[in-house]
Amino acid sequence: MDFTHERFEYTRRYVREVFGAEDEQLAHLMERAVAAGLPDIAVSPDVGHLLQLLVAMSRPPSSSARAQRVVELGTLAGYSTIWLARGLAPGGQVVSVEIEETHARFAEREIAAAGVGDRVVVRRGAALDELRRMQAELGDDSVDLFFFDAVKQQYQAYWDAARTMLRPGGLLVADNVLGAGWWIDEVGEPNREAIDVFNRAVAADAELDVACVPLREGVLVARKREAAGRSR
Ligand SMILES: C[S@@+](CC[C@H](N)C(=O)[O-])C[C@H]1O[C@@H](n2cnc3c(N)ncnc32)[C@H](O)[C@@H]1O
Repeated sequence: MDFTHERFEYTRRYVREVFGAEDEQLAHLMERAVAAGLPDIAVSPDVGHLLQLLVAMSRPPSSSARAQRVVELGTLAGYSTIWLARGLAPGGQVVSVEIEETHARFAEREIAAAGVGDRVVVRRGAALDELRRMQAELGDDSVDLFFFDAVKQQYQAYWDAARTMLRPGGLLVADNVLGAGWWIDEVGEPNREAIDVFNRAVAADAELDVACVPLREGVLVARKREAAGRSR
């Protein structure tokens, strides 16, 4: 199949039109964010649907004593956070980590306006530091889904810090695994090289089953195996 730029663009618009419906709250959220000075770098609505679906698919088993927990790295304006929160089981929670106070405050207002404020905590700090603190606070097998969307060059470090917190059967989701202002064919570009290392390490990780969903700028979806060492 000859995959021209025009064909790629048509496909991208088609997927967004057919699979990217948004309600009023989400449809104008990023316009408000940009007007407030935040960068226009949220996930697209078609990726939002994927995030909501993956959260719904990562609910803890009914035998589990704890409520569902999702951890997002990189809140920005709360756009992806709201999609994640909408997939939660009753009683579940999204903890979203953001380093910029103005982003965190803007996001909290939008999250409340979307009606999911009771299910979301925006945690201030650097993602890697907060992951290490959460590991000490929450312990192993305490998270059902991680969504990485903060510093691209730190994804491998995020995974190293998050690994034991993700319960067996839980999901690792990472945005921008094909591009983010750069593209995956730009060999030598520092972000591209860091993501390439992360992608290859995760794809070869004996604890994970992994797929790359080429929506927007690429979404990696991985599931931690129930029993380490199971054959692929
Ligand atoms: C791509 S945006 C997140 C987009 C958001 N997940 C969405 O799709 O709606 C990345 C966010 O990560 C934040 N960020 C940058 N460095 C960070 C760090 N070291 N720790 C936590 N957040 C960071 C930025 O301030 C920005 O808000």
